[in-house]
Amino acid sequence: MAMQARANQHLETMNFLNEIASDYPKAISFASGRPSESLFQTKMWVDALPRYLEYFALQCGCSLQGATQRLSQYGRTGGLINELVASQLTKDEGISCSGQQIIITSGCQEAITLTIQALCGHATDVIIVRNPCYIGITGAAHGCGIDLVAIDPPPGQSYAQALEKLVKELKALGRTPRAFYLTADFDNPTGSVLSMADRLAILTTCATYRIALLEDNPYGMFCFDGDRLPPMAALDREGVVIYLGTYSKTICPALRIGCIVIPQRLFGDQVASQRLAADLTQRKSFLTVNTSQFNQAVVGGVLLLENCSLLRLAKEATDYYRRNRDVLLGSLANAFDILGDDIAWNCPSGGFFLTADLPFIFDRNEAIKCAEKFDVILMPMSFFTLDGSRKTSIRIAFSNLECAEITLGVERFSDFVRQHL
Ligand SMILES: Cc1ncc(COP(=O)(O)O)c(C=O)c1O
Repeated sequence: MAMQARANQHLETMNFLNEIASDYPKAISFASGRPSESLFQTKMWVDALPRYLEYFALQCGCSLQGATQRLSQYGRTGGLINELVASQLTKDEGISCSGQQIIITSGCQEAITLTIQALCGHATDVIIVRNPCYIGITGAAHGCGIDLVAIDPPPGQSYAQALEKLVKELKALGRTPRAFYLTADFDNPTGSVLSMADRLAILTTCATYRIALLEDNPYGMFCFDGDRLPPMAALDREGVVIYLGTYSKTICPALRIGCIVIPQRLFGDQVASQRLAADLTQRKSFLTVNTSQFNQAVVGGVLLLENCSLLRLAKEATDYYRRNRDVLLGSLANAFDILGDDIAWNCPSGGFFLTADLPFIFDRNEAIKCAEKFDVILMPMSFFTLDGSRKTSIRIAFSNLECAEITLGVERFSDFVRQHL
């Protein structure tokens, strides 16, 4: 059977990710997938709050002061700006939904935690992920005592085939797979995109086995080349996709605003959707009570100022991240072409991350050596796998660096590689 998460590995990884940059302040860090601060529209956010207050006052039929007082109170657990978020998801992502299907969360991380808790009520329930996968789901599942199992299809096998095989194996062992979590667009950590055929086949398999598809989509709006594929939530006809959204990358992480979008009819059942919404809301009311109304108001104001579409803001960010990707690809080619096929990397068509494969193991020790002696920080891909595999791969995050830093960072890394070889 596919691999299960190794206890505590992700906690160490999280610590490592958080601490290595401050341990080596002079080093150029390709470690964290943060949005670039140079893109933060701080002036717009200051204008957004009064814009939302005007709108809210009109909605409530009260004065601006009354609206401000209401915002300052505890709020509705399910959220305040649901209709505006629904409009934005419909316009930008093609996900037609209403505000009633949405729960506003404190970032996507809360959305992940609440959803897996609500779906996995029994000790036999498990969540399926891809290997490697986002560390946030691994940590959340561990924290909630929920087992994760990963699929890693061999060449020639599709994700849907691997999923079906695993589901059968799990059921034979008395386990119940409740959900399949993935990032279809510009995945963290790999940078890969799921093909249209994979998306459709996975949706069919999920519908057949009644497994919810948890689609996490922080990077979908940053598409560098060609046309974007529709998110799986926009392709879903059977009510299998629970969509997990965030404004951390399109607006800014400090606001901590994300969302859960529940299908109108979960597996064709409207009552099941309502039950899930009630369960999630109840859980949230004991976890964070409600998501900061001031922060929701800033997001709401940005959506009002931008006519409920983030395409304009995302365009500027996409140009920036594309340029960084191109500088990174050019620098890798300059530094490593001489080594032929010994080092290979993918060409991400969007998002924040690139994967490179090295001719030697790059683990925690190598990462520390690289930071200490060569002033550059790279993330071992094995940190993001459930079984410690992908030992010779690294994740390169290129989102929060200037071009000159990318070039210099790759030069330093190539010195490390040459010395290692
Ligand atoms: C795949 C993925 N999901 C979720 C998150 C977290 O989002 P948020 O800041 O909304 O909690 C991240 C952040 O890096 C991410 O890469």
